[in-house]
Amino acid sequence: MRKPVALLLLLAMTLLSACATQNPGANSPQRRIRIGFSMDTLAEERWQRDRDLFVARARELGAEVLIQAAAGDDDLQLSQAENMLRRGIDVLVIVPHNARAMAPVVTKAHEAGVKVIAYDRLILDADVDLYVSFDSERVGELQAQDMLRRVPKGNYVYVGGAPTDNNASLLRAGVMKVLQPHIDRGDIRLVSDQFTPEWLPERAGGQMAEALTKTQGKIDAVICANDGTAGGVVQALYQHGLAGRIPVAGQDADLAAVRRLVDGTQVLTVYKPIRLLATKAAETAVAMATGKEYVTNHTVNNGYGKVGAFLLPPVPVTFRTMRETVIKDGFHQESDIFGPAKPDQPSDGH
Ligand code: BGC
Repeated sequence: MRKPVALLLLLAMTLLSACATQNPGANSPQRRIRIGFSMDTLAEERWQRDRDLFVARARELGAEVLIQAAAGDDDLQLSQAENMLRRGIDVLVIVPHNARAMAPVVTKAHEAGVKVIAYDRLILDADVDLYVSFDSERVGELQAQDMLRRVPKGNYVYVGGAPTDNNASLLRAGVMKVLQPHIDRGDIRLVSDQFTPEWLPERAGGQMAEALTKTQGKIDAVICANDGTAGGVVQALYQHGLAGRIPVAGQDADLAAVRRLVDGTQVLTVYKPIRLLATKAAETAVAMATGKEYVTNHTVNNGYGKVGAFLLPPVPVTFRTMRETVIKDGFHQESDIFGPAKPDQPSDGH
């Protein structure tokens, strides 16, 4: 080989290997992209779906995912996330148990040159790089609008979610935005309005039982921040012989809730197509890791400043619309909802 050609070749090879060390792409043989996924919990049905769909999409894109779930323990979630940072990740995706407690991890991630995505739940007072979620305020609006159509006047119970979860505040804000004029007019009385620590169904059931005692059973409508808490409320209603007689709304389109739409003990759930969320988050995480552009469609303020967000629209689901929504999407199989025999017509009350 002539000397100048050999020199050029050597230069090109050195440059190539330098690029590979500084920015190891998904297809680099040296280093796969590694994403840390720090989850609060896997308790509600949805979170396992989130995890599985996120991992599947990330793997398709050639990335590796480290996953930890903290069972609702702030200290554990902090140490798990820090541990992932120590092990070496390119992007950290967090579903915070507590909106504020995870803020220090965002700082630590940035110190390590790792970008942070808040998944489904916003992290407050921290320099989060992106927030990917559903429009939770819209979920609350949809619940209240549906309930007002059914019950324009009467005593309402609001069963909020965990006060540590920013989504619980957004959901309540959406519900109140719609209900407030009716409350002001005196058409609606909010006889109970409480958050539900840890989203516990039993706590929600306790709140419902108290409200029934307080009003001597005179409750006309119940709006719950999710289907788990709606399940607790329906249990309490069963104990008072009132299940199916007082309309209950929730969100998540959990299988148990969709079944309750069939038996009439719940009238509404709000479906959030998790596949879209998990896919978007995984694709964005990989884009961030490789320094590529990604799309946002909103901006939110998290107390620290403006955070770019990608918010997806939620979909209301009733007995009448479950076929064109959750069943059509394959979110639930018809056979899982109805069992072997299918009812032909909605029963009274739907
Ligand atoms: C989510 C809900 C979920 C709840 C309890 C909220 O932040 O948006 O979908 O049911 O947490 O895990």
